[in-house]
This record gives sequence, structure tokens and C-alpha cells, in this order.
Amino acid sequence: MALFVWKNEYSVKVQSIDKEHQRIFEMINELHEAMRVGQGSKVAPAILERLLDYTREHFAYEESLMQKAKYPDLGAHRIEHVKLTTAVSKMKQDFDKGNTAISLTLADFLKDWLKAHIAARDQKYTEYLVAAGIN
Ligand SMILES: [Fe+2]
Repeated sequence: MALFVWKNEYSVKVQSIDKEHQRIFEMINELHEAMRVGQGSKVAPAILERLLDYTREHFAYEESLMQKAKYPDLGAHRIEHVKLTTAVSKMKQDFDKGNTAISLTLADFLKDWLKAHIAARDQKYTEYLVAAGIN
């Protein structure tokens, strides 16, 4: 059973962004599944690295669209992105140092963060992006 199942209520009404969010959730599920079958410490560093790379690209893309749409709350939104990438890269460093205890809660933390971020932040830019013709 997958940790996370996509629902329409997570949509930001911009297809390209929804697709990227789905891809991030897939990676989180992959991480969760690896932990569930006891392979977490073996595969987590590689998955985390991919997740970090992809998330950074995704955030940059999202920010570029917000900028294009002249979204007024871009600054605060950008700070949230920086906070997450910093937190995940710190977790990855802990992992690399052999602190694998974090593996138990990591996938849950990421899933909860992303769900909350989409609801509290991403869905606020929808009307601006849609009004700017971005989809
Ligand atoms: Fe975002």
C-alpha cells in the first residue's frame, strides 16, 4: 500500500506543476517503501539526492511562473522553499554520517510537509497563474 495517493484536491490547476508534485510524491513513496521493506538505509541516500535535485528544479520552476504572473507573495513562498531544501539537505547529511534513525520519520515528514505546503502556499498562487494564462 502506497504511503501517498494523489487526489484532485491537491491540484493547483496548473498541469505542469501538478505533474511535478506527483513526481515528488512518487519519490517520497519510493523512500517509504524502501524503509518498509528494511532497505531504507541502503537506498535512502540515493533517493534523497534525486529528491533534492528534483525539488530544487521544481521550486525554481514554480518561482519563475510566480514571477511571470507577478504573484505578490513570492517572497514568503520562496522562503518556505529554502526552508524545505535546507531541512532535507541536512537530513541527507545526517544520513551520510550514519544517523539512520531519521529514516523512520523522514518519508512521513516529507509527505506531510508537501501536502501542507500545497494547501497553504501553492494553491494561493492558482488564481494569479491562471489569470496570467499559465497552465
Ligand atoms: Fe511551492
